[in-house]
Amino acid sequence: MQQIIELIRYATMAPSGHNTQPWKFSLKEDGIRIFPDFTRSLPVVDQDNRELYISLGCALENLVIAAKYTGYDPEVEYFPAGEPEECLLVTLKHSNVTGDNNLFQAIPKRHTNRREYNKQQIPAADFSKIGSVPTKDGVTCLVLTEPDDIGQIIDLVREGNRIQMNDNAFMDEIISWIRFSDSEAEKHLDGLTSRAMGSPSVPGWLGRMFMRFFVSAKSQSKTDGKNIRSSSALIVIISEKNDKRSWVDVGRSFERIALTLTTLNIESAHLNQPCEVPQIKNQLQQHLALGSAHPQLLLRIGYAESLPRSPRRSVQQVLI
Ligand SMILES: Cc1cc2nc3c(=O)[nH]c(=O)nc-3n(C[C@H](O)[C@H](O)[C@H](O)COP(=O)(O)O)c2cc1C
Repeated sequence: MQQIIELIRYATMAPSGHNTQPWKFSLKEDGIRIFPDFTRSLPVVDQDNRELYISLGCALENLVIAAKYTGYDPEVEYFPAGEPEECLLVTLKHSNVTGDNNLFQAIPKRHTNRREYNKQQIPAADFSKIGSVPTKDGVTCLVLTEPDDIGQIIDLVREGNRIQMNDNAFMDEIISWIRFSDSEAEKHLDGLTSRAMGSPSVPGWLGRMFMRFFVSAKSQSKTDGKNIRSSSALIVIISEKNDKRSWVDVGRSFERIALTLTTLNIESAHLNQPCEVPQIKNQLQQHLALGSAHPQLLLRIGYAESLPRSPRRSVQQVLI
């Protein structure tokens, strides 16, 4: 039993949009179910729950990697009929083969690093390791390093900030998930903490006032532009289809890439605005000549000192 609880703990170390941790788990005689927790959805930035299912995919991939490492042969079923609610089902059979130790060890070390990076080049051998991470069927990973591409993406991120940050509902939603003080972070054990974003702990009222009156689309775009230019490369994760199963597979593929980056001491941070705003997503599709394929996640990667970890709720809090 302790082993199963530990597998769930590893699953909860996954990244999620705004660190909402939109998952619940339950135990079956021979496996674990992962349910979407729609009480933790982001109805403004993620209207169709696309990023919620990507986050579930990240948790699923952690669970699979941890299960393989622990000596199981996990079998995954997507939204199987006959379950009490929509879920991902991981059936655990014992196996003699142990899984990838490096990826398993990377799970607790992986984190989003929003610092400015140091422009250091990524060695060719590491690029080829990133390029050869196995992604799920219908999911691909594009690595961008050309200055023209980077310049275009900076423009799209700026346009995304302009649309999102001038929308009061977007600002209300993100502010509601920021934990400005250490005590707010400890109380909720979720959300975007000041410290994980590279800022000091401040009283909640002060942080909220700062966000409302001093953070603008313009200031955010300036920071994003500087951060992108400080990065060694950009990564776009693309899927052929745009449905629930594909979103889960994007999450699974992304998590493997993020863990591989961690094993190479390469940091990563998201800039998903261009994938979130429909009209900008079209421009990104055209710029990258994706045809009808869907850009799902946009990340910058590079080198920087690490940042404090984001909190997670305990297994007891996510187990139903
Ligand atoms: C689907 C998805 C979307 C995300 N979108 C953004 C984003 O647009 N901007 C950002 O800074 N971080 C984004 N993140 C990163 C999360 O905020 C981060 O995973 C979460 O705060 C937990 O922190 P950790 O990754 O350090 O564990 C996203 C993560 C996921 C899985």
